[in-house]
Amino acid sequence: MPRTLSNASTTVAVARARSQREIAKPRKAAYRTGTKTVSGRGKEGAAPGPVVLVTGASQGIGAAIARAFADAIPGVRLALVARQEKKLAAVARECVARGVAARAFVGDVSSESDVARVAAEVQAVWGGVDVLVNNAGSFRPGRLLETSVADFDAMIATNLRSVFLVTRAFAPAMVRRGCGDIFNMSSIAGLSAYPTSAGYCAAKFGVTGLSKVMRAELRDKGVRVCTVYPGATLSPAWEGSGFPEERLMPAEDVARAFVDVYRLTRRTVVEEIVLRPQAGDL
Ligand SMILES: NC(=O)c1ccc[n+]([C@@H]2O[C@H](COP(=O)([O-])OP(=O)(O)OC[C@H]3O[C@@H](n4cnc5c(N)ncnc54)[C@H](OP(=O)(O)O)[C@@H]3O)[C@@H](O)[C@H]2O)c1
Repeated sequence: MPRTLSNASTTVAVARARSQREIAKPRKAAYRTGTKTVSGRGKEGAAPGPVVLVTGASQGIGAAIARAFADAIPGVRLALVARQEKKLAAVARECVARGVAARAFVGDVSSESDVARVAAEVQAVWGGVDVLVNNAGSFRPGRLLETSVADFDAMIATNLRSVFLVTRAFAPAMVRRGCGDIFNMSSIAGLSAYPTSAGYCAAKFGVTGLSKVMRAELRDKGVRVCTVYPGATLSPAWEGSGFPEERLMPAEDVARAFVDVYRLTRRTVVEEIVLRPQAGDL
């Protein structure tokens, strides 16, 4: 269940690598070590809502998910994770401007040490998360026989290893509380073969499998697991592709699905969502 936020003001702080001693003093440390700190005021009288952590929140679908939760869930507290500090801080400011609490946590979700640090920082500030959105990912094209080992490893690390690491960091507290939501971002490339996307496809099929195991193991612990399979969605990932905007889904539509699924009663789990451009796949 959501925990109480002791400080009434909403704050955006970019939290960077901190020593254990600093983590033990969360608020001061976040302000002192952050390169950019922005304060705003939440909606008057709004009760503290769920803590929602979104990976890959510095742009694209992840940023749209953060904005969608900010708009729809009163009192939501957003923990935004990505590597690009300035972009992440800008998204956090946008969310604060929408009247909720948001903090930027800079880190690489494919790195075990970064994930451990971010988990400690989130724990110190908000005591854990209620909703985990494993959205971070990247795409490098490549036919199987032309894919380098480095590119293949990068696809697995960013799209699949990250889901394992971040879930392992935050799900135990959900299990202890007997309540939580995990969204894992796969792709239609996690449902069907996409020639020229060997590494990406392998990683997204991996997310599909990992999600199924997660759901089987966490179902009776009160944790809902939803796997999301979008088709082509407008985001910076498509910049320079030459496809007309109208052929892609708006990131806001994909983001809205997350919020709508989250808002169902806890007696219902939406196990999978497939979203495609109405005009068909690209
Ligand atoms: N757009 C589509 O058509 C589409 C379709 C199906 C599935 N998806 C999936 O949806 C997700 C979001 O896609 P998008 O289109 O919004 O992509 P995007 O615009 O490229 O954004 C990717 C996000 O992930 C973050 N990220 C990447 N690697 C990271 C890492 N190692 N550690 C932390 N953050 C990392 C990026 O932030 P930093 O660079 O700041 O770290 C960025 O915020 C991805 O998982 C993607 O595979 C997208």
